[in-house]
Amino acid sequence: MRAAYYEKHGSTDNIVVGEFPDPVIGDHDVLIRVRAASLNGFDPMMLEGTTDLNTPLPMIPLGDFAGEIVELGSAVRGWAVGDRVCPFPFVMGEGMNGETRRGAASKYVSFPAFNLLRVPDNVSFEDAACLPIAYGTAYRMMYDRARVAEGEKVLILGATGGVGVCAVELAKLAGCEVIACGSSDWKLDKLKALGADHVIDTSEEDFEDVIHKKFGKPFILGGGGVDVLINYIGGDTGVKSLRCLTKNGRLLTCGATAGYDPYQDLRYIWSYELNVIGSNGWLPPDQVKLLDLVASGRLKPRIHAVRPLEETASSIQDLIDRKVFGKVVITP
Ligand SMILES: NC(=O)c1ccc[n+]([C@@H]2O[C@H](COP(=O)([O-])OP(=O)(O)OC[C@H]3O[C@@H](n4cnc5c(N)ncnc54)[C@H](OP(=O)(O)O)[C@@H]3O)[C@@H](O)[C@H]2O)c1
Repeated sequence: MRAAYYEKHGSTDNIVVGEFPDPVIGDHDVLIRVRAASLNGFDPMMLEGTTDLNTPLPMIPLGDFAGEIVELGSAVRGWAVGDRVCPFPFVMGEGMNGETRRGAASKYVSFPAFNLLRVPDNVSFEDAACLPIAYGTAYRMMYDRARVAEGEKVLILGATGGVGVCAVELAKLAGCEVIACGSSDWKLDKLKALGADHVIDTSEEDFEDVIHKKFGKPFILGGGGVDVLINYIGGDTGVKSLRCLTKNGRLLTCGATAGYDPYQDLRYIWSYELNVIGSNGWLPPDQVKLLDLVASGRLKPRIHAVRPLEETASSIQDLIDRKVFGKVVITP
């Protein structure tokens, strides 16, 4: 089959598009013809080999995908050839598709039938392929972990990425006042079009200053600042984030794009009785709820571009260069 893959970690120059052995299916697996796959923030990390995870080499990138079943293992029941599916991409014993298991930048993928989720007829493969990793993570973080509520002020750093655009939309659906951060004018315009009430250009403005000017400096007895702050950037944003939160505010983290050991100042956590909340992944019912939200027209995945398999490497490079708003979809 045709696939995009790399044989060693490094830059996007290592990604080639060519022939790759077809996946073999077991009794409990199905073979899926990939119709759309999408990039995530972890694709550059896997390619560069900067995490502790062991990717099988040669590695096919891209964890998220949707497609149709073309073959069934002998023990598979309840599914048929032609069914439209968007699997829950974390496989027991193998880990996340695109991280520790070969991804979906390929014509076919083998998947356990246990992981299959049905794509409603009125949801496109491209939209469905955006929903698992970034959108699933945003769903759990915003609704199960942060429990954002109507009227709350929610500050989202790096709001222009896959997790970010979904977090903005889910916060708006919940009736929150959203302050969204991005690093260039064209991305800020898109954040406004998405419904963000306020935007901050982090390439020119200090988000802490903007929050203090707009909502007041948090006061130890209450008032000022924001109620919820979404931070998967890490790096040097740690203490600034704490200083933006109102008394009893919630700081959510699900990642650390710019560094996982930021300097912290614990005094803000106890003085303002802040809640630091981790959020990791999502569950299949979250992905089903997202599919329902898209099917009912209440959520529209933000697709930056739909590109052919040959553009997998340049698309990952665009992600590294911060030239993407939302999701890039590859159609193998
Ligand atoms: N724990 C989990 O289950 C889980 C699941 C999914 C994702 N994550 C994590 O969540 C984070 C976001 O994922 P994603 O797929 O949304 O990534 P993404 O699409 O690449 O978006 C990340 C956003 O962060 C900003 N950014 C990129 N590099 C940056 C840097 N060096 N410093 C500051 N800002 C930077 C960019 O916005 P601007 O250029 O506009 O600033 C970009 O739009 C990643 O760290 C990922 O590993 C965790």
